[in-house]
Amino acid sequence: MICIAIANQKGGVGKTTTAINLATGLAATGLRVLLVDLDPQGNASTGLGVNQADRAQSSYDLLVGNCALDDAVIATRVPKLDLVAATQDLSGAEIELIDYEERTHRLAHVLAEAPGGRWDICLIDCPPSLGLLTINAMVAAQSLLVPLQCEFFALEGLSQLLQTVDRIRGRFNPALSIMGVALTMYDRRNRLTDQVADDVRACLGDLVFHTVIPRNVRLSEAPSHGVPALIYDVRCSGSEAYMRLARELIARLPQQEKAA
Ligand SMILES: Nc1ncnc2c1ncn2[C@@H]1O[C@H](COP(=O)(O)OP(=O)(O)O)[C@@H](O)[C@H]1O
Ligand SMILES: [Mg+2]
Repeated sequence: MICIAIANQKGGVGKTTTAINLATGLAATGLRVLLVDLDPQGNASTGLGVNQADRAQSSYDLLVGNCALDDAVIATRVPKLDLVAATQDLSGAEIELIDYEERTHRLAHVLAEAPGGRWDICLIDCPPSLGLLTINAMVAAQSLLVPLQCEFFALEGLSQLLQTVDRIRGRFNPALSIMGVALTMYDRRNRLTDQVADDVRACLGDLVFHTVIPRNVRLSEAPSHGVPALIYDVRCSGSEAYMRLARELIARLPQQEKAA
């Protein structure tokens, strides 16, 4: 199982939208996917139609050792896509975990428990900060996917993120790679977003996925119906883009994962 953290300490850049729809796109290609919601806001869980009442065991319980991975896994209505949901408890985890042994490795140890062959790929939806939750995701992951919103300050904050990645590599996870940067909320009619996309590509080169996620109202409507956009409206431009992103990501996976 390859594990990819979807991270950017900025809020509202499309992490959760990417987590939900990329996970669904990957599942649609036949991969078995586990999505771990690591944001106390629990938007990925809500967006997949998992109500608070159905979140008896959550990512918080896993991090503090209240339950085993198997107890926290919820099958979603998307075939081949399972979820570990998030609850409000998670907002206290950053502080609570300070007293725990190996506090940066809690999620890594939990995911190492995953039975071999049950999932091909795990996506982790990170909160909008570089705190202990995101660090747990980066320690557990082999790779990072960074959504960048096509707006004027897109690159601001990226150096801080990359510094954190370097620190994690140095101290905990030398093999952590960056799978790619995904441009989100691209608006063809707005020349500024075009300019931003060009600048980001000039700066980051091949690291940037070829696929660009357009600004598309269907992507923002789908969560209120508790389904991924790919199910809400498979033909909308946002769904098509996430399906392309899923294929592009698969092409970037290490060879043995593709064969799975
Ligand atoms: N490509 C898009 N087009 C239109 N709205 C989007 C798009 N991506 C995200 N949104 C909306 O923008 C808001 C923030 O997105 P979200 O994925 O929750 O970001 P994050 O998880 O980084 O905070 C949400 O209301 C979401 O529905
Ligand atoms: Mg989010």
